[in-house]
Amino acid sequence: MPQDQSIIITIDGPAGTGKSTIARLLAHRLGLDFLDTGAMYRAAAAICIDHQIDPDDVEKLCEVVADADLHFDWQTDPPAMLAWLKPIDSRIRDADVTALVSRIAAIGKLREHMVRKQRIIAAQHPRLVAEGRDQGSIVFPDADVKFYLDASPRIRAHRRAEQLRAEGAAVEDERILEEIIRRDTMDASRQDGPLICPDDAIVIDSSNLEIPEVIAAMETVVRERVQALRMG
Ligand code: DC
Repeated sequence: MPQDQSIIITIDGPAGTGKSTIARLLAHRLGLDFLDTGAMYRAAAAICIDHQIDPDDVEKLCEVVADADLHFDWQTDPPAMLAWLKPIDSRIRDADVTALVSRIAAIGKLREHMVRKQRIIAAQHPRLVAEGRDQGSIVFPDADVKFYLDASPRIRAHRRAEQLRAEGAAVEDERILEEIIRRDTMDASRQDGPLICPDDAIVIDSSNLEIPEVIAAMETVVRERVQALRMG
């Protein structure tokens, strides 16, 4: 990838499609930065729990989240999520945070705050792979390449369960499937920044693909797009 080429690539899609891993590896391959926007909503959910804020008290939550000055440490790989200048990555994947985060991510005022921050990050990191739910639709509608990554709910649940089992948790696929369907429904039905597939996104169904195959397919699309951009 030419070093002087600004490029914004968005990857949206539901939970459990491997978006974070794929976005990070694609960014590595292309020498771009990687923005995990889910980590920002997870950080807000963790703050809500740990500061005993009522999730319905939107004003208070937004005030405390703004005070936390969420940002990433770009010196680490993947970039660490910081709140009040302290890394909180080890907290934001906990089960209680995962259970609450869809509700927190449905708060319109909080989303406005996050969208603003994400655009500032892109201004500072103009060679970026941004993944989430609204990256191609709301945050970066003019992104150079938009992907929508999908997979069947059952496969996503199985992958997530395997991942949790590898980390030592005793989980059943069925329970994870219920949680995935619940989160999908909340993420897709909320009023602000719902999960949608942008019209101009390239859809990749990863149900029957391994991660390297998904990345190879994406890389081909991106390289073709860069060539087109450079030829004007
Ligand atoms: O991708 P993830 O599981 O880390 O996302 C956590 C939650 O945040 C999930 O419920 C969807 C929500 N989210 C969002 O609403 N918008 C984004 N851009 C990213 C994540």
